[in-house]
Amino acid sequence: MASAKLLVTALAALLAAAGGAGARELSRLEMTSAEMIADGGGMPLIHMLRPLRGSGGRLGRRAGVPCDSWRFAVETNSVRGWSTIPARCESYVGNYMMGGHYRRDSRAVVDEAVAYAEGLQLAGDGREVWVFDVDETTLSNLPYYAKHGFGAEPYNSTLFGAYVQEASAPALPETKRLYDRLLALGIKPVILTGRREDKREFKSGERQKLEDAGYVIVGNIGDQWSDLLGAPEGARTFKLPDPMYYIG
Ligand SMILES: *[C@@H]1O[C@H](CO)[C@@H](O)[C@H](O)[C@H]1NC(C)=O
Repeated sequence: MASAKLLVTALAALLAAAGGAGARELSRLEMTSAEMIADGGGMPLIHMLRPLRGSGGRLGRRAGVPCDSWRFAVETNSVRGWSTIPARCESYVGNYMMGGHYRRDSRAVVDEAVAYAEGLQLAGDGREVWVFDVDETTLSNLPYYAKHGFGAEPYNSTLFGAYVQEASAPALPETKRLYDRLLALGIKPVILTGRREDKREFKSGERQKLEDAGYVIVGNIGDQWSDLLGAPEGARTFKLPDPMYYIG
């Protein structure tokens, strides 16, 4: 309790330093939520955020949800089990993928992964490994998806299979940077793909086999939550962006 109160006081001090809130809000911040309710007057700071107009509805199934909000909900694994992107978001996702945004988001994730790897105390026995997914992690299928509505068209296994056969998918530059850094540090990259599998447990099962064989999974990177969830996940997971498709 004391520490919770300390935290809001610290937050109030931060806001005061940033000059972002008036004295009345700051004094309210120093109250506990119980005190706020008992006090009755005024409102907790969160309620001062701009209210959302209009009626509710499920994200992505309602015409008005902005595509960037849809993307947020997808990337945080809140919206699941979707088969295509909302039709109205095709140009948004296309711009995101083809412009600088996708690359910047990938860079932010890989910067963290590299910093984390560089900070690890390695045992020096060659047992530390890092798990990489393939599609939209090691390799980019953007050349394919750019011709198929960036995920707006339903998945077609025949067409995608033919594309995979071409073996033309480029490496993702940010992931390549992590891969090269890990090799230099002495961490072994392990590449796992569920391409030929239809069971969600496949990847966690393969990670378990690595651990059973004495390897230590220090990191795990993928574009799908199903790449990352399921014990053993690895000591840290890194989620790359992918607003084009969902694999559960
Ligand atoms: C996949 O694409 C091929 C070639 O355009 C088409 O003939 C086939 O019907 C499609 N399959 C599905 C399930 O839509």
